[in-house]
Formats: sequence, structure tokens, C-alpha cells
Amino acid sequence: MNLILIGYMGSGKSTLGKKLAKALNYPFIDLDDYIEEQEQLSIPELFKSRGEIYFRKKENEYLKGLLEEQNNIVLALGGGTPCYANNMELITQHKNAKSFYFKAGIKELTSRLKHEKENRPLLSRFSTDNELMEFIGKHMFERAVYYNQAQVVIPVDNTTEMAVLDEVMSHLV
Ligand code: S3P
Repeated sequence: MNLILIGYMGSGKSTLGKKLAKALNYPFIDLDDYIEEQEQLSIPELFKSRGEIYFRKKENEYLKGLLEEQNNIVLALGGGTPCYANNMELITQHKNAKSFYFKAGIKELTSRLKHEKENRPLLSRFSTDNELMEFIGKHMFERAVYYNQAQVVIPVDNTTEMAVLDEVMSHLV
């Protein structure tokens, strides 16, 4: 079974994904890291030199490849992955994948992301917390329809990493 982790930037997909993979003894793949390795460019460099459309095309190709080739992995997607091309369809129709949406609120995301904007090309242009929060609010509103297609939705505000991991595990038996 492939476990697919979905959520907005800063929702904890990579941090929790690594721990989950360790607990299950599965390999962990972070789709952004994988794209960076394959393309030999960082995400900000890719956005800058090739543009977002190129990034989204590659994101779709690499996701498709990984879902076809891999079994028993924990895969953390990028925050936008479920919202482009046929990515969510690839995930929901995959016969051997289970998807988890780590659902964080707008305030929580803003406070987590305000110090982590530099490597995130979609956020680096916001200079104040208010601008950032307004953008995240609108962005989440547009994206929720995709995120909510995940098979399991797990709220991650006001909880512990352990509780979230337990919740994921409880859906694997
Ligand atoms: C993006 C999220 C990022 C990365 C890119 C675009 C998005 O991934 O894929 O900067 O559209 O939300 P993280 O969620 O891992 O930061």
C-alpha cells in the first residue's frame, strides 16, 4: 500500500511522513525533493527559470511514474499537487494507495509559514503577516475541494504528532 500525504504548505506532510515511514519501515519520498533531484534544480530555481507551468507538468509526470513503479512507500506531495492536472484522480483511482489530508487552519498555517517563505515561491512575495494570511485563506478556499477528496481527513491543529500518526495507523489495519 502506498500512503499519500496531502495538505497545504506547512501542514506537516514531510515531518510526519518521515516519522510514519520510519514506524512502518517503508521508504519515504518527498515529491518536491524527488523533482529537485530529477531536474537538478531547486523548486525556487525551477519556478524562476522554467516557470510554474513547467513545474506542474513535471510534478504530474513524476507523480504518475512513482505511483506506477512504487509499492509500500510513504509519499508526501507538494501543497499544490492535488490541485493540478489529473493528479487527484490518479491518487483516488489507484488500486493500492490510501490518501490522507493533514488539515490545518489558516491561522496555524500562517504562523508556521511566516518564517518559512524563502523556499516557497508562491509565498515569498508577501511581506506582512496579514498579507500572508489573506493569501492563504483564499488559496485554501480554492484548494479545499481537491484536498477533501482524500480518503482520510485528519485535523492537525491543537494535537500532537503522535496522535496524528496513531490516527493514520488506525486506518491501515
Ligand atoms: C506548492 C507547495 C510546495 C512546492 C511548490 C508549490 C504549492 O510544496 O511544491 O513550492 O503550490 O502549494 P510544500 O507543500 O512541500 O511546501
